[in-house]
Amino acid sequence: FTEIKELELPAAFDAHVHLRDGEMSKLVAPTIRKGGVNQVYVMPNLVPPITTVKECLEYRDRLKAIEPNVDYLMSLYLHESITPEVIREAKQAGITGVKSYPAGVTTNSSSGVLDYESFYPVFAEMEKQDMILNLHGEVPSTPAHAPAPSTASPSQAAITILNAEPAFLPTLQSLHTHFPSLRIILEHCSTAAALSAVRACGPTVTGTITAHHLSLTIDDWASNPFAFCKPVAKSPEDRDALLQAAVRSHGKFFLGTDSAPHDCAAKRGADRVAAGVFTQMDALGYVLDALDVGVRRGVVAEEEVCWEGLEGFLGGWGRRFYGVRDGRGERIVLRRGAGRVVDVLEAEGVGVSVVPFRKGEETWSVEW
Ligand code: NCD
Ligand code: DOR
Ligand code: ZN
Ligand code: ZN
Repeated sequence: FTEIKELELPAAFDAHVHLRDGEMSKLVAPTIRKGGVNQVYVMPNLVPPITTVKECLEYRDRLKAIEPNVDYLMSLYLHESITPEVIREAKQAGITGVKSYPAGVTTNSSSGVLDYESFYPVFAEMEKQDMILNLHGEVPSTPAHAPAPSTASPSQAAITILNAEPAFLPTLQSLHTHFPSLRIILEHCSTAAALSAVRACGPTVTGTITAHHLSLTIDDWASNPFAFCKPVAKSPEDRDALLQAAVRSHGKFFLGTDSAPHDCAAKRGADRVAAGVFTQMDALGYVLDALDVGVRRGVVAEEEVCWEGLEGFLGGWGRRFYGVRDGRGERIVLRRGAGRVVDVLEAEGVGVSVVPFRKGEETWSVEW
């Protein structure tokens, strides 16, 4: 693999993207195809979040108007107003799934979920309608003024962004036990523990892995707001487990970039740093570069990185789990070292700009 100069693959499926709305969507949606992707699963955390079928379909139409040559699979934002009736309506309308955000954990999640059990009737209907439940698998951090936690049991430990994902995993297990036929995706797995929890579930549960979590660790985002996202990148051991899961996936894990653009001003300035890493335009190159490093470091074996595995991780397995086909049948060619990440993504007449992951660095180029 490390000697391969050129790779021909089917156009990719990105199972987790943030395309935003308004100006930002005009900047970002045109980068999907530049990145070698022709089918995406779109996150609903707009301001306000997408909680009705009508808003969701209108949002899809706005995205289509900006970039018509992409297939947009759509999601609703789990919220009190989502009832079993809304789920039936959504299924009829061709909406694919529902994303659950824990209240207060990440960007635009102030109206997210506090108590999963209150949504059991919704999950039961989703299971019946064969819709997908996408989990942002973190629990909220313990507030600074909360009473001191008991150290007697690890499950009582105070929550920070470092253990927020492991602390969520019993909820994944419990949802799967209650709704064994419900297709669930644990989004943006960032720990070895999350990978094990997904593997311990039946075939209706899978996980997505981002491009950036295959290379980042804690030290990276500690000094760089453009490498900061939720869930945060964890230890080198976690990063290596993700690399191994990507090549040893057999369909259990596939790419969902969680590409999450924020205007430069929200990343550097006087306010809290917005969480999100923008990877849309070069995601496939980032994955291949990370695997390269993984091979050189001996974390994955050269022969484990095979064409079938890449084809699966970058699209085939995600499409299979979602039950969709690439209706366009397009192919792409990736060339090692022939691409360069832009320093900043901007466009004429658009008032926002985004600094991408690994700005200015060399990576693979994409040609259609
Ligand atoms: C996020 C955080 O907690 O750091 N903010 C929030 O919860 N509203 C940062 C972000 O996601 O922008
Ligand atoms: O880092 C993140 N950014 N994580 C998320 O879950 C949401 C995303 C965003 O919307 O910016
Ligand atoms: Zn998320
Ligand atoms: Zn996301």
